Amino acid sequence: MANDVAAIVLAAGKGTRFRSDLAKVLHRAAGRSLIGHVLEAVRPLQLAQVIVVVGHQADEVRAEVEASGIPGLTTVVQSEQRGTGHAVQQAVPALAHGIDRVMVLAGDTPMITTSWLERLMADANDVGGALLTAQLTDPSGYGRVLRDRDGHVEGIVEHKDASPAQLMVREINAGMYLVDRGRLVGALAQLDDDNEQGEIYLTDVVRILTSEDLPFAGTEAPAEVIAGVNDRIQLAEAAAILRRGHLLHLMAETGVGVLDPATTYVDVDVEVGRDTVLLPGTILERGTRVGERSTIGPNSHLTNVEVGDDAVVHSTRGVDAVIGDAAEVGPFAHLRAGTRLGAATKVGAYVETKNTTLGERSKIPHLSYVGDAEVGTGVNIACGVITVNFDGTTKSQTTIEDDAFIGCDTMLVAPVTIGARAYTAAGSTITDDVPADALGIARSHQTTKEGWVARRQERDRRG
Ligand code: UD1
Ligand code: CA
Repeated sequence: MANDVAAIVLAAGKGTRFRSDLAKVLHRAAGRSLIGHVLEAVRPLQLAQVIVVVGHQADEVRAEVEASGIPGLTTVVQSEQRGTGHAVQQAVPALAHGIDRVMVLAGDTPMITTSWLERLMADANDVGGALLTAQLTDPSGYGRVLRDRDGHVEGIVEHKDASPAQLMVREINAGMYLVDRGRLVGALAQLDDDNEQGEIYLTDVVRILTSEDLPFAGTEAPAEVIAGVNDRIQLAEAAAILRRGHLLHLMAETGVGVLDPATTYVDVDVEVGRDTVLLPGTILERGTRVGERSTIGPNSHLTNVEVGDDAVVHSTRGVDAVIGDAAEVGPFAHLRAGTRLGAATKVGAYVETKNTTLGERSKIPHLSYVGDAEVGTGVNIACGVITVNFDGTTKSQTTIEDDAFIGCDTMLVAPVTIGARAYTAAGSTITDDVPADALGIARSHQTTKEGWVARRQERDRRG
């Protein structure tokens, strides 16, 4: 808890290098927006204030950051994006009484962690301020950190303004600072846009303060923590690093088995339980939760799906669905929104479900479409069953009560109810309710013509 610290997070830029209609900070990596990652690193610090500077697509960015629900979060608008220093100038009037220190962060550095921000705060004690840096093998595009002969930070020079000698510097500015409030405000007042890009650079604050004889701490962090995302190539790289970090956490801390981390894509907000195994080609997205001892994959893509314990989900696509304990799904199942599979259920090959509840131990083993249905417990839906739920205008409901048996190739023309323990005969088109314990049979009778083949061959021979 840092009562006297406010964070200013810069998120007004367009992100020209993304070549996108979407504001850069709204692009997602490992299931979370870039700005969302930064805010999640800030959250545990419990700062008194978090001020996000919005501008490009201000409404959308504001909605995204407000959805984080971080206490003390407000937004200010920078209507013209005149540079990072200008952005901070817009936020300063919003600083509350009692704020003595200001942390400035960029909205496009999604790998930053809480512990490195804590380090930044600690290192700023007793000096003019602190900034995070990193040594990069390829520092192009970043501001370079200039140090004097004793190793003290003297200033930052942007790539575009750097001399050939300065371009050789591999220590880069992470764009994350902690500065005393009064000193920051004083230095901001001295900024100008006399540089290659004609922008008001926040980085000049460091030169101004160090020239006032206030040492600035430059804390070196790993490149993977401070890297910025300016284009789609860096976005893909950042996403890979974030996903790998989450997978390592799941393996090391939770005890999740991952056969091949390189082909397993798990969003950072996905939870997976102990002794569950993720097989190659598995993609788990948007708040998916998997219990213990389950097997997911190969090739399962689950988005906002809740999976219980001891379940098997093989080669399956699922969205907004629930898969109960010990359920068996796939291969090649498609669970659409509103699917709720009870414990020990089975949904097998080439089955599609939508808006359907399947009670405990019920089975749809093969080649069926079940939509808008309420299915009880212990029901067997044999091969090739279709709920005829849409007449071109309205969707209608199918109800199948406990222990019913739906024969192969039954069309259930909804709205229709099959009572408990009732059967439908194979090949039936069921348009009327079948009461409990009854058999519903709705198909034409077969006619068998004895000796028909010989008669036909005779006819063919005569021509
Ligand atoms: C900035 C730093 C650079 C550092 C790099 C680290 C400056 C001048 N340069 O460069 O030294 O190495 O970050 O990643 O600060 N933004 C606004 N309003 C603006 C301009 C930018 O809110 O008017 C926001 C952007 O949305 C972005 C952040 O500030 O989230 C950084 O801006 P960006 O243009 O990406 O700066 P870099 O060129 O990467
Ligand atoms: Ca950047």
